Amino acid sequence: MINVAVLGYGTVGSGVVEVIESNKELISKRAGEQIEVKYILDLRDFPGDPYESKLVHDVNVIMEDDSVAIVCEVMGGVGAAYQFTKMALNKGKSVCTSNKELVAKYGPELLGIAKEKGCNYLFEASVGGGIPIIRPLNSALTAEKVEKITGILNGTTNYILSKMEKEGADFEDVLKEAQEKGYAERNPEADVEGHDACRKISILSSLMLGKTVNSEKVYTEGITKITAADFVYAKAMGRSIKLLGVSRSKGEENLVMVAPFMISAENPLYMVNDVFNAILVKGNMLGNSMYYGKGAGKLPTASAVVGDVVDCARNQGRTIPCLWDAKEAVLADVDEVERRFFVRVKPEGLEAVMAAFPGGEQVDAGRSKDAGYVTPSLKEKDFAAKAELLGDALLGKIRLGD
Ligand code: HSE
Repeated sequence: MINVAVLGYGTVGSGVVEVIESNKELISKRAGEQIEVKYILDLRDFPGDPYESKLVHDVNVIMEDDSVAIVCEVMGGVGAAYQFTKMALNKGKSVCTSNKELVAKYGPELLGIAKEKGCNYLFEASVGGGIPIIRPLNSALTAEKVEKITGILNGTTNYILSKMEKEGADFEDVLKEAQEKGYAERNPEADVEGHDACRKISILSSLMLGKTVNSEKVYTEGITKITAADFVYAKAMGRSIKLLGVSRSKGEENLVMVAPFMISAENPLYMVNDVFNAILVKGNMLGNSMYYGKGAGKLPTASAVVGDVVDCARNQGRTIPCLWDAKEAVLADVDEVERRFFVRVKPEGLEAVMAAFPGGEQVDAGRSKDAGYVTPSLKEKDFAAKAELLGDALLGKIRLGD
């Protein structure tokens, strides 16, 4: 029998217990041994909860119990979660987590401890919730040189953008409604400002490169400036607006960034709507492959954590190889990247825009309140310098993607 401890009895933690209990027989069969939840750690009490008897408040009970081989860290944050993960790994207990903040910040260190102690640190649920993406990158695609990863990595923002597109609603109104329905956090900053997507693309990029992509150095722009009017222009261009995490090798450097992009209907990510996530991976032999599914939510995320539990059970006494060196990858300067931009300006600013970015195309969306224009390809820094000269006339800008 393999005993498991769950750290954190919140949404994902209760999901982990539910997945293990609901699918116990087949999970145990696949693991090769009976999987049992022995402890649940939480500061709170849960009177009347069916698993109340497993609840402990002191982490040492778990750490001192040699019969616990696997710990699921689903607390979140980088404080106690970091401390408890290190304690568990140092005791030779494998850790499975959904905590992208911790993985992005301390991944190589925690993987290093796991290797030293002959156990595992697995984090499938940290990116794309229930979508398998860490394991494909780490095993099925090991024959590939991955050249590019593009992902819709945040369910909340994809839900907001999809609703804005469908209903012609503005960002603030959709956010408010999403919060009322419990889809968006009360403090939505990490999602809407792109920080959550940034941690996820940093983790994927680190696995792609085998070196650390420091999420704090990744250019990140959220969706708060996107308006209903932008979607009218996007539609007129046969495009959609998506918050993308992008990572691509560029010679010795690597471009990693998060920003809203206007993408064409030919892009496979175009049809990814609502809370769904998708990750498009381009390998040098395989070409494109896409991983699609529920990127958040209790059971999808818990399913990925429990999948890792099964992997840990199957690999007791052996550390599954994961190439992620602590050495930092060199990031390309986003300012030097060339691309086209969609700009929305006051009608009286159109002439100035055409003069600033000659050779572009005007977009007719049948609006009188503003005008749309697509610039020719130019460096981000040159675009920014010219856009600044437009002053108040500039109402918005969005990068054009494939
Ligand atoms: N807030 C995240 C999202 C949860 O909306 O995608 C999953 O990481």
